[in-house]
Amino acid sequence: MNERIMSSKFADGDELIEYSLRPRFLNEYIGQSGVKEHMKIYIEAALKRGEPLDHALLYGPPGLGKTTLATIIANEMGGCLRITSGPALSHAGDLAALLTNLAQGDVLFIDEIHRLNATVEEVLYPAMEDFALDIVIGKGPSARSIRLDLPKFTLVGATTRMGLLTSPLRDRFGIKEQLEMYKPEDLRCIITRSASILNIDIDSGGAVEIASRSRGTPRIANRLLKRVRDYAQVKANGIIDIETAKAGLDMLEIDDLGLDAVDRKMLGTMIEKFSGRPVGLDTIAAATGEDAVTIEDVYEPYLLQLGFIARTPRGRVVLPAGYAHMGYTYENLTLQERMNI
Ligand code: ADE
Repeated sequence: MNERIMSSKFADGDELIEYSLRPRFLNEYIGQSGVKEHMKIYIEAALKRGEPLDHALLYGPPGLGKTTLATIIANEMGGCLRITSGPALSHAGDLAALLTNLAQGDVLFIDEIHRLNATVEEVLYPAMEDFALDIVIGKGPSARSIRLDLPKFTLVGATTRMGLLTSPLRDRFGIKEQLEMYKPEDLRCIITRSASILNIDIDSGGAVEIASRSRGTPRIANRLLKRVRDYAQVKANGIIDIETAKAGLDMLEIDDLGLDAVDRKMLGTMIEKFSGRPVGLDTIAAATGEDAVTIEDVYEPYLLQLGFIARTPRGRVVLPAGYAHMGYTYENLTLQERMNI
């Protein structure tokens, strides 16, 4: 495998397994057909010209395969992959050290790129645009700047928050692709593929059941698959069929749409305590015991996609579909809450 992994991202057991489940080439990658089609063309064209791929920005909710796509880009282009993240690059020198160690055609992956600080980001601009590193030598009036040439590399940036990227950084990416939540059928294929890699016995009913509760996210699908396998081995005959999948997922408190205890606490609080009136993010965070960023990045996207909540300028509101899923009647509850106020 032609990867030099820089971070300790894949160091522990479960993550190591997850890493082995990741497709390594585009033709193994399931779903995201639009992104896949675009990347296939851009990669083929760059290879034909003998040039590195243009810098690419991947954005979308967590767990949809941004790191996987960066790995695939490196493999398809025949370059090495270096992985780092916005928060890990606290000094300009950290980035300079990474950049000067790249070889032509390598892929530098910066996860959570919206969290780069301004000084580090400024080192990135000439590196992306001119493949150059500007170094200031000395201080005061005698300070001078020298420019080092860098190898022609590809930067792949990933973010869950496109809106937090500064426009100079955003504008330096020639390729911008949004990853979307996966369709249940794609997730079923991913679960079947992962089960075969991990030697897990699963039938199509079991795979459909797990897929339908994975909230459009392969990372969640693979995690649920492993937990349902545990359940099947201890409480059943080791085979994941629809009944075992249902029972295992019920034990995990994952409901039929994939909502977990935190989602339900969030919706329940907004309905019962706030009668569906707009609630601020920090209030939701305090009520659920999760931090506001996790609520916004991890929980909200799926609830928004289901049409269970909406963002308004005054806060989040629960929509009728959210009331119905939680077993409340929209109008009745509003009346009942009105009496309590
Ligand atoms: N495992 C995780 N994500 C995947 C994907 N998009 N295709 C195939 N296997 C995966």
